[in-house]
Amino acid sequence: MSKSIARAASLALGAVAGIAMTVSAEGQTSKAAAGPAATPTFSKDVEPIFYKNCTNCHRPGEIAPMSLLTYKDARPWAKSIATQVGKGAMPPWHADPKHGQFLNDRRLSDADKATLVAWGNGGAPEGKPSDLPAAPTYDGGWTIGTPDQVFAMSEDYPIPASGEIPYQFLEIETKLSQACVPLVARALPRLLAGELTFASQDETQVSFCRRLSKEDGTLDFNVSAAELAARINGLYPWPGCAFDLADTRVKVGMSEAEVGTENASGDKPGETLGSDGASLRVATGHGVLRLLRLQRPSGKMLDAPEFLRGFTIAPGTLIASQPMTRLVGKEPL
Ligand code: HEC
Repeated sequence: MSKSIARAASLALGAVAGIAMTVSAEGQTSKAAAGPAATPTFSKDVEPIFYKNCTNCHRPGEIAPMSLLTYKDARPWAKSIATQVGKGAMPPWHADPKHGQFLNDRRLSDADKATLVAWGNGGAPEGKPSDLPAAPTYDGGWTIGTPDQVFAMSEDYPIPASGEIPYQFLEIETKLSQACVPLVARALPRLLAGELTFASQDETQVSFCRRLSKEDGTLDFNVSAAELAARINGLYPWPGCAFDLADTRVKVGMSEAEVGTENASGDKPGETLGSDGASLRVATGHGVLRLLRLQRPSGKMLDAPEFLRGFTIAPGTLIASQPMTRLVGKEPL
């Protein structure tokens, strides 16, 4: 008996707060939850996390669909919060942690994540309003520090006061070298001061690319829409991809693989499938390719609908494929 009590005592010391150890008459140990104290409360545990990680987006006038600034705002979303946070969809963060640290990393710590999930799934109690921390102040506008570089658009894009705008592709023409010089200039002094640590490059991940030439802009519609889109977008603005329709060379400025058609078959690769209001759809070896920006010789690069108003391409027109050159490989090309 004395042995099992000693064991129970050390277990109790090791157990997390809120779980009490009891010893039954038979000397058996058993766990019992210590009641509601086990569930985090909004005021004490949850709102500080919202202030830190969520309300920059989840407040009136910001991008997210609901505010998380008060208990009343947040309570109806408790279940959804547990789900979205549990599966890592919120806060949104798409950078791969494999590739180093990011100054504005938005991910939650495991402890904060567990707190939000336990609260959302545990009846979402409010707790004592007196536990609430001071609310952050927001003065509107840019919130992520001084930018390294600001690139201006060459043309204004007017935004109507209400209504919906279809997804836009606004091009900002900047040479990567110009964008990078200030970053290098900023990093060099830190490098000399020994503040930066080097990680060696994983040679097995290297791929080789040869010098691009004017002849690289051909399109073979027998390959997949995803591969074609990568080629078209990657080679824009130079050398630029193009195809020939009768006597006209049509340049393509931007495209994407249509979601959900990856395995579409039946149409002949290169066959045009008409316009969907935002793009010219073309059948490929795997899936449908959406051509979003097109240009005629001596014309301007235009959004597909505008282009098609001045240049008719009837559905069922076949665009001839041209072999595509290999650009990238695991060995030097
Ligand atoms: C960078 C901005 C941003 C941050 C930070 C952010 N969210 Fe969101 N959140 C959004 C947007 C935008 C949506 C709407 C997504 C959509 O409709 O596809 C959303 C949607 C949600 C939803 C789904 C609502 C529904 O319709 O069911 C939940 C829940 C949610 N966020 C919780 C959180 C929580 C909790 C945090 C902090 C831990 C957080 N979000 C941080 C931008 C953000």
